[in-house]
Amino acid sequence: MLIDVDGAVQLLMDGEFVAVPTETVYGLAAIATNPAAIAKIFEIKNRPADNPLICHFHSIEQIQQYVTSIPPNTLKLLHHFSPGPVSFMLDIPQDSPLKFATCGSSQVIARIPGHPLFLSIIKKTMQPVAAPSANTSGKVSPTTAEMVRNDLGEKINGIVDGGASSVGLESSILDARSSNEIFILRPGAIGEKEIESVLPGLKVILQQDGGDRHIPGTKYAHYAPNTPILSIENTSEIIEHPNAAVFLTLEAMQAIPRSTLHAYTLKGIHLVNIGSTTDLNTMAKNFYQIIASVDQLNVSRAFFLVPDFGISSLGKALQNRCHKIIAA
Ligand code: TXA
Ligand code: MG
Repeated sequence: MLIDVDGAVQLLMDGEFVAVPTETVYGLAAIATNPAAIAKIFEIKNRPADNPLICHFHSIEQIQQYVTSIPPNTLKLLHHFSPGPVSFMLDIPQDSPLKFATCGSSQVIARIPGHPLFLSIIKKTMQPVAAPSANTSGKVSPTTAEMVRNDLGEKINGIVDGGASSVGLESSILDARSSNEIFILRPGAIGEKEIESVLPGLKVILQQDGGDRHIPGTKYAHYAPNTPILSIENTSEIIEHPNAAVFLTLEAMQAIPRSTLHAYTLKGIHLVNIGSTTDLNTMAKNFYQIIASVDQLNVSRAFFLVPDFGISSLGKALQNRCHKIIAA
């Protein structure tokens, strides 16, 4: 059921959860300090109990009320990029009211989201709001209200429709607590280049999944549609896979001769255009919607011709998400 901001605030204050739009992906929101509401989120998502939830705030001042301190580098980045598609690891005091959302961890991942509807919901509740992506654990993150409905449907009391998420990939997660190095725990739209523009000369380290400083979520398989997706290296392999879908860039698609395209059609091969590498913003925005759409094609398998996304922050984030949707 579609609800408005006030309807969402009411449900949240009653201890319920609602789906909300953010500029990254849609979130499944509950008041972060309410253990019963947090428990419902874990249940609905079928989320492993040791995988903590990002907490959303409306301002730096509100974050300050819940953390032991905001270290100088984090503060600079917060001032520069928030509200926006970036989250920060911060220390919380012992026995913090956020402990249910953080699964008992002594750190919280805090974010001030940029979407005006979600920001206004947080302001009106006057509480921190926990919100993981609004998908069943292991499924593709939703970037539209319709994707939320397709995945969680009946289980949801209310969805606030804020249009398609403008960024389309989950927030970058940064650990900027140290004064001499910054860790990117999850790559996103804000990466090395953007951090360096604010904190020049500082060491920025992109963590590999499963590395020393990984976040719990990276140990689980992520983002896969029901149709298994495998990787292919070259367009010449496409013809070997009848009755399958193949994800590829506009450039790769345009390079295929017309006669070959005809041969694909005869073999029931669906080419799925993920967009152009010359416009990564649009590619990221549409990415999850295109990936999820493969389940409607009636194919048993799909293949991904992974392009070189380049070295921009968004390129690296897309590369990272590709690896997460491709079956091992
Ligand atoms: O863009 C986003 O960040 C979206 C929107 C809704 O804000 N949220 C999102 O949440 O992507 P989720 O739960 O799908 O991913 C959060 C990641 C998980 O990998 C989780 O393990 C990690 O952040 N995480 C959350 N809280 C943590 C904590 N206290 N310590 C370490 N990792 C944490
Ligand atoms: Mg998620």
